[in-house]
Amino acid sequence: MPKLLLATTNPAKLREYLLLLGDLPWRLVTPAEEGLKIVVDETGTTLEENAKLKASAYADQSQLLTLADDSGLEVDVLGGEPGPLSSRYAGQGASDKEKMALLLSRLRGIPWERRSACFRCVIAIASPRGGIELCGGECQGAISFQPRGGQGFGYDPIFYLPQRGKTMAELSVEEKNKLSHRGKAAEKACQLLREIYS
Ligand code: IMP
Repeated sequence: MPKLLLATTNPAKLREYLLLLGDLPWRLVTPAEEGLKIVVDETGTTLEENAKLKASAYADQSQLLTLADDSGLEVDVLGGEPGPLSSRYAGQGASDKEKMALLLSRLRGIPWERRSACFRCVIAIASPRGGIELCGGECQGAISFQPRGGQGFGYDPIFYLPQRGKTMAELSVEEKNKLSHRGKAAEKACQLLREIYS
């Protein structure tokens, strides 16, 4: 089976992708397994630009078909913040707890009806020959008043899903994959990979 490089060093994202892409006719490999140590500066101003930067940098270095994503949380009352800055919201190296605390402090006093938010994920698939394809997915929800749940990563404990009556961090990885932004984007990525590259 040919290899497909999952260009992320985030173990929680990797876990989600290994399940989401596990049925494809490619052997899924990680940067660590391929001995790759690449730091990609996320200099783009959109998720699309950053996903492309990551996928093409890893495809160039590895000479493998590569899938990368850029994802983020958009909070309506904050004009779409933190958006592409989601991972660095409380400064480079801040913990998930610190990022959630900052976001909750910015939303202090904002009532339930005005706490709507959306997780967005953009996947870029880059071929070492230079081709690049994009697809995306969204998941609507609301920012809760306090964290709940111990699964997932990032902002999952404060991302409330009204249709489930739970935060994203109260779902198993399989349940999260069925409704998440990443799950939806990965479904489209699977179709693209089968149509274009198999
Ligand atoms: P990046 O896509 O690795 O640049 O980082 C995206 C950042 O957005 C992560 O560090 C998280 O803080 C947040 N994020 C993206 N996807 C999710 C998710 O599925 N759950 C919770 N937080 C997420």
